[in-house]
Amino acid sequence: MTQQASLLASRVGAGRAEGGRRLRSVDPAHTDQVVAEVLLADPETFVAACRAACQAQPGWAGTPAPVRGRVVKHLGRLVEENFEALARLVTREIGKPLAESRGEVQEIVDTCDFFAGEGRRLYGQTVPSEMPDKQLFTFRQPVGVAAVVTAGNFPVAVPSWYLVPALLCGNAVVWKPAEYAPATAEALAQLCWHAGLPDGVLNLVQADGPATSAGLAAALEEGLVDKVGFTGSTEVGRRIGELCGRYLQTPCLELGGKNPLVVMPDADLDLAVEGALFSGFGTAGQRCTSLGTVIAHREVHDEFLSRFAAAVEGAVIGDPFSKVLYGPMIDRRFFDRFLGWMDLVEPHHRVQGSTGTGRITAASPRRGFVGDPDDGLYCHPMVVSGVTAGDELYRRETFGPIVGVAECGSLEEAVELANGHGYGLSAAIYTRDPATAFRFRSGVSAGMVSVNNSTSGAEAHLPFGGNGRSGNGSRQSGIWVLDQFTRWQALNWDYAGRLQKAQMDVAEPTPDRDYRL
Ligand code: UN1
Repeated sequence: MTQQASLLASRVGAGRAEGGRRLRSVDPAHTDQVVAEVLLADPETFVAACRAACQAQPGWAGTPAPVRGRVVKHLGRLVEENFEALARLVTREIGKPLAESRGEVQEIVDTCDFFAGEGRRLYGQTVPSEMPDKQLFTFRQPVGVAAVVTAGNFPVAVPSWYLVPALLCGNAVVWKPAEYAPATAEALAQLCWHAGLPDGVLNLVQADGPATSAGLAAALEEGLVDKVGFTGSTEVGRRIGELCGRYLQTPCLELGGKNPLVVMPDADLDLAVEGALFSGFGTAGQRCTSLGTVIAHREVHDEFLSRFAAAVEGAVIGDPFSKVLYGPMIDRRFFDRFLGWMDLVEPHHRVQGSTGTGRITAASPRRGFVGDPDDGLYCHPMVVSGVTAGDELYRRETFGPIVGVAECGSLEEAVELANGHGYGLSAAIYTRDPATAFRFRSGVSAGMVSVNNSTSGAEAHLPFGGNGRSGNGSRQSGIWVLDQFTRWQALNWDYAGRLQKAQMDVAEPTPDRDYRL
């Protein structure tokens, strides 16, 4: 059954932009159902959006920050009023289980709640001067125009992490969402516009990757973009970093992960299994914070593995509107790529977790599946044990329902395995010993560490981001993201009525350095 799909287009300034190629966004749980059709923009449209943003930005920056905060507050309330509709659209367009989609929408509300108040802070400092009759100050200045490019696994929460603080800080934004989640993106943008943003302050560009990168390169060259925010793959993040570097810009990069979960001998094993199940298979393993490899101490490895495999075997998979651990892959591109990862299983590995591997179909069924697997893009979960540091599966971000299990003999070895692949987004440890937890925290290279909790599911007001192959050290969320969307301006004001030269005209106290008790 096909439903009437809306035709979406980019919005540049106040008007709809002409589009080129048409793309269909398909429900991954019912691939015969089109959610929306979108007119993909060309590079010129992207540049035009940046021009519109440049024009609108000074007026928006001139709006007092508390008033901008009110817009953010209205956005939060509007999201709450439209909570269920938005959550359902997320589930329809990318197949995320409804409970997770509701969590995702809540994350926008949380972000708005935090930044609505920031409109009344956005503090600078008053700083004492080394001279009399002189005062020093710092001010947060908006960067200007932010170009934000986001992935579709969190099609509204992660965009809100950029959009809300960027707008609150007085920037104008050009947002390019994932082309496989255009209806969800349009919905969030509409909520932003209806919250009271002036025309041109937020511009939505529905475009594919090549048009976006050509448009971004041209906009940077024309001096229209002052900050780039990007959530996506390490490979694309590296290219964006190179491009921005040419213009002396540091992008905000939130890239991939191969997130470890360490299970120590003193761990509560049932809790660790519960954490690994959600970390590994929530959003069908397509979070950047999804669990990559469990690193289990050899004293508990076999017991953990048998409980974990049993939990995965018993988990309910299927229709994302039902109570399931996970639904379909979010888009065909990830589905196809995941099927390619079957090659990562080597002869020394053991695969558990389901009644088959690869695609779930009537011919390769999954026990307890909810719905008709042939309707959608569903994959069997895989628990692959026997993983070692030499394996491709240990190094590669798989972005799908597959979790490796490796063995370690000590905390030192666990830390080495946790860091060895070069990603550094999120890491978890299960232990009852505070010393072990703190030693792990200081040794692990991840930007986010969980103790006795999942690798995924960060709260919306803690710094979010990674190191190494996971990012360039930029952080989103909470007060920390303010440094992405503002630049410090230092002001010194001398009211002495004569020139006082710093360092040279400073009074020197005269201590008696020979004094002894
Ligand atoms: C992502 O996958 O890009 O911490 C973000 C989490 C979510 C966000 C994930 N709150 O898992």
